[in-house]
Amino acid sequence: MARIAVTRRLPFPALERLAAAHEVVTWPGVLPPSPGELRAFAAGADGLLCLLTDRVDAALLEAVPSLRAVAVYAVGTDNVDGAAARARGVAVGNTPGVLTEATADLAFALLLAAARRLPDGERAVREGGWRTWEPAGWLGLELHGATLGIVGAGRIGQAVARRAAGFGMEVLLHRPTPLEELLERSDVVSLHVPLGDATRHLIDAVALERMKPTAILVNTARGGIVDQEALADALHAGTIGAAALDVTDPEPLPADHPLLDAPNLIVLPHVGSATDATRARMADMAVDNLLAALAGDPMPHAVA
Ligand code: DGY
Repeated sequence: MARIAVTRRLPFPALERLAAAHEVVTWPGVLPPSPGELRAFAAGADGLLCLLTDRVDAALLEAVPSLRAVAVYAVGTDNVDGAAARARGVAVGNTPGVLTEATADLAFALLLAAARRLPDGERAVREGGWRTWEPAGWLGLELHGATLGIVGAGRIGQAVARRAAGFGMEVLLHRPTPLEELLERSDVVSLHVPLGDATRHLIDAVALERMKPTAILVNTARGGIVDQEALADALHAGTIGAAALDVTDPEPLPADHPLLDAPNLIVLPHVGSATDATRARMADMAVDNLLAALAGDPMPHAVA
């Protein structure tokens, strides 16, 4: 029987399978452990089931030499130092595929909300700003015939493209479309790349300048892909039309972050995969990864 540290309470049946086979300890907090707390909590563990909020870096791996397997409860694994894990022979797995449709739904919900200015209209109704049907009130972008640029044509990007086709949008994929051209031609730009050295601040001030002054930026990937100071400047200056974000860097943003004052911004609490079915499937995959690795088998959903 191995010892498994789970960094948050996961109320899904898969955890019972894990507890039936191994000793499971669960972080009791509602908030993530700090790096120091995580080192102490994981001490002596053979396996770690962690969230995207938990940094699994060289310092943690060094502090917990017993660790043999890390199952990330997410598809994105930018919180894990893959090279450090490989160097120590620690298997790392994630939860690809099962959250594709839920995340694509959310990207499209953000796209629609920003394009048709749903928060503005809703606020006006609640705050008494809507007095009668207005011929030129709350005008937005018509999706039919508009161009959607998808940066990152992996599983989620392609699922967003399928939805866009149903709405009669023209879709540009990067690649083959060069990023500069995609930014210049798109009415909506939706980000679906993983966060890494090559994609950090991919959407910086220069990229934002290339976008149309009416363009909408949608980010359901990782906050670090966008230079948020530059985005706040662009929204304040009106050099892009709107931004709709499910992800920020950090999460949550501090209350005084300039982005939170920016006009035409929708921001959500990282809920792309937040459906009952998807989160339960993610738990299944994370548990499958741990059970396999601790039995000495390859993880079924190993990170390359
Ligand atoms: C992921 O899996 O990477 C999402 O951001 C959260 O489910």
